[in-house]
Amino acid sequence: SCKKMEDGMEEMMPGEPVPVTEGNFSDALNFPVIQSDNYSLIAQTTNGGVFNSNPVAAYGYQNDALLGPTLKVSSGQPLSVNVQNNLVEPTNIHWHGLTTPENMDGYPTDLIQAGSSFNYNFPVNSRAGMYWYHPHSDKKTGEHTFKGLAGLIIVNDAEESALNLPSGQQELLLVIQDKRISGNTINYAPAETEVITGYMGTYVFVNGVYAPFYSLSTRQYRVRILNGSNARVYHLALSDTASFTVIGSDGGLMATPETVNSILVGPGERVDLIVDFRNYALNSEVFLISKTFDGGIAQGTQEFKIMKFVVSQQEADTFILPAALSSYNVLSESQSTHSRSFDISNPHGTMGHSGHESGMGHNIGGKTFDANRIDEYVTAGAIEVWTFDNSLGEEPHPMHLHGVQFQLLDRAGGRGVIEPWEKGWKDTALLMPKEKVQVIIPFGSSTGKFVFHCHNLEHEDDGMMLNYLIQ
Ligand code: C2O
Ligand code: CU
Ligand code: CU
Repeated sequence: SCKKMEDGMEEMMPGEPVPVTEGNFSDALNFPVIQSDNYSLIAQTTNGGVFNSNPVAAYGYQNDALLGPTLKVSSGQPLSVNVQNNLVEPTNIHWHGLTTPENMDGYPTDLIQAGSSFNYNFPVNSRAGMYWYHPHSDKKTGEHTFKGLAGLIIVNDAEESALNLPSGQQELLLVIQDKRISGNTINYAPAETEVITGYMGTYVFVNGVYAPFYSLSTRQYRVRILNGSNARVYHLALSDTASFTVIGSDGGLMATPETVNSILVGPGERVDLIVDFRNYALNSEVFLISKTFDGGIAQGTQEFKIMKFVVSQQEADTFILPAALSSYNVLSESQSTHSRSFDISNPHGTMGHSGHESGMGHNIGGKTFDANRIDEYVTAGAIEVWTFDNSLGEEPHPMHLHGVQFQLLDRAGGRGVIEPWEKGWKDTALLMPKEKVQVIIPFGSSTGKFVFHCHNLEHEDDGMMLNYLIQ
């Protein structure tokens, strides 16, 4: 732990940025298999993914695959997933972004023991959107997710289907994750300074493939992206600075499209984009990159390439993006009956700040996770405004609530605005250093205990997670 200096101040090196090593973009992008019924996941050790054309030893939900299958389900249908745990330790699954009964949500102490199985079974009432699943066992979420246990959930509904958005070959589901590899094995071993910054990888994988390329045609593509990394924030853009259109975020389609040149995506967040390749010359190459950004001590100092698109086929495309995408209630502050505020500035590891001196790790309002303590009591069906305050903070914190989708009301400090890609339904709100964000949350009617936490998974495992009880 921290070395005490003579004057009693903590000497913590806050952690240097972990530089990304760009690959040569010569391995083809893969897509996880799709399951539309008989959903089944087997947590296991596996050799999967593609790292410089070789598989890596990792965890997975299938044989020879780094990521789990993509689960497709229609809104209104039940989802029943059999999960077998063939690891040598307990694990569980959380359905990030979906609303489930409390006993199906992957609560940190609801575990599937090694050698056992559990049937997760609940109705999917969510809007059409891209959600995801990953383990959520107390203090192990970071390790299990980093080692490869994660997958996508695609929910469809009639409103979205009616838009005839690009689909099939023209719909790309991309999971971006940075990994550390040693000896063709995914290496998860955060040093103390990396508990502070979060554990960042040197190799950026997309769908389990390091530095991939994808060949496409002169058409418009629906590109749906999950930042499935433990801690790394990406400032996504195209290498030729072309603009693209945001059509959705965590909880599905936004009301109207927004045109942007780049987007900042924190761990756990999703964006749904239309990228237009119609005007590219045949054989042109364009990269999905992460640009630099103001990300505190350990993030944002480097621009790097993530994957390569090669425009290799001429094809006609008549798709016209509708001007109206989705209709839903935009919530206003006046509808809220209760507000709560949480200090997440949390200057763990920063010289002279209180958090670490008290021996406390990452915290929310001075508290760390305790499965046996209810931190907030919420009335079923209530609409509330919650404020997360990172005003004094020096690290990004993507704040996530289980069981709900919310809307952003306001951001003060830092970027000072709600970004175009944050206008729809969200389950994770990125707070960069110095920012204070207000969200408005319609709570569900199903009672029980749920968590909310920072989705920097090292922060979460370090205790930056509290309980709320819907009653
Ligand atoms: Cu994806 Cu509790 O998180
Ligand atoms: Cu979640
Ligand atoms: Cu955090």
